[in-house]
Amino acid sequence: MSDAILLQGCDLRKTYVLGRAEVPVLHGASISVEEGSWVSILGSSGSGKSTLLHLLGGLDRPDADSGQVLYRGQSVWEQSQRAINVYRNNDIGFVFQFYHLLPELTVLENASLPAMIGETNESGLERAETLLTQFGLGHRLHHKPRELSGGERQRTAIARALVNEPSMLLADEPTGNLDEETGGEILGVLKELHQDGLAIVMVTHDPSIAAQGTETVHLRRGLIE
Ligand SMILES: Nc1ncnc2c1ncn2[C@@H]1O[C@H](COP(=O)(O)OP(=O)(O)O)[C@@H](O)[C@H]1O
Ligand SMILES: [Mg+2]
Repeated sequence: MSDAILLQGCDLRKTYVLGRAEVPVLHGASISVEEGSWVSILGSSGSGKSTLLHLLGGLDRPDADSGQVLYRGQSVWEQSQRAINVYRNNDIGFVFQFYHLLPELTVLENASLPAMIGETNESGLERAETLLTQFGLGHRLHHKPRELSGGERQRTAIARALVNEPSMLLADEPTGNLDEETGGEILGVLKELHQDGLAIVMVTHDPSIAAQGTETVHLRRGLIE
């Protein structure tokens, strides 16, 4: 396993502004993710886990002049919007607690969607089918999300996150909406992906889930301790 650094968050600050009120959430959080590692970020509800993961994944910007996200040494937020989109869509895969599948699309269409951005992509459809089959959903390709169990929905979402062959998966409480057994199955899927070399950053409020990773860091008072 290589110890090259894949992703770094350096001194990240984030304050939400709600009308005249400011909600400071991150106060200079720093984190480093090596290739092939599985970093669990453990923090209580409201501690800023989703906020941090969104900054790392290029889904939201840190405060102006407040630190950087570096992917393979390159500053994500200092690049063009186009380059940020490529980072989001190709370099990382994102998994959410509530799946965020599109209800009108089938399982196969949902999973292949990121491969369709820009151009229709036959091989993207094939990769989606391969991933879905690998995750035990080969018989569900043409079903709608509402016809699936929670675990099946999350496996669909993981297939979608992987369809563009990212080097890193960012998972936001991926088992948070599932019962213990189904959550365990999802963690099993992540474990296999990690064994195949995928780097994972997972946030959770549950120490036993965090322990599935190779290292755990704590998010407290807006800082990684
Ligand atoms: N878009 C937003 N606007 C205003 N406040 C927000 C927004 N998103 C999150 N917050 C607030 O920031 C804090 C951290 O939220 P979040 O990152 O979602 O925490 P966690 O994922 O650890 O539960 C919470 O107090 C939350 O209410
Ligand atoms: Mg959250």
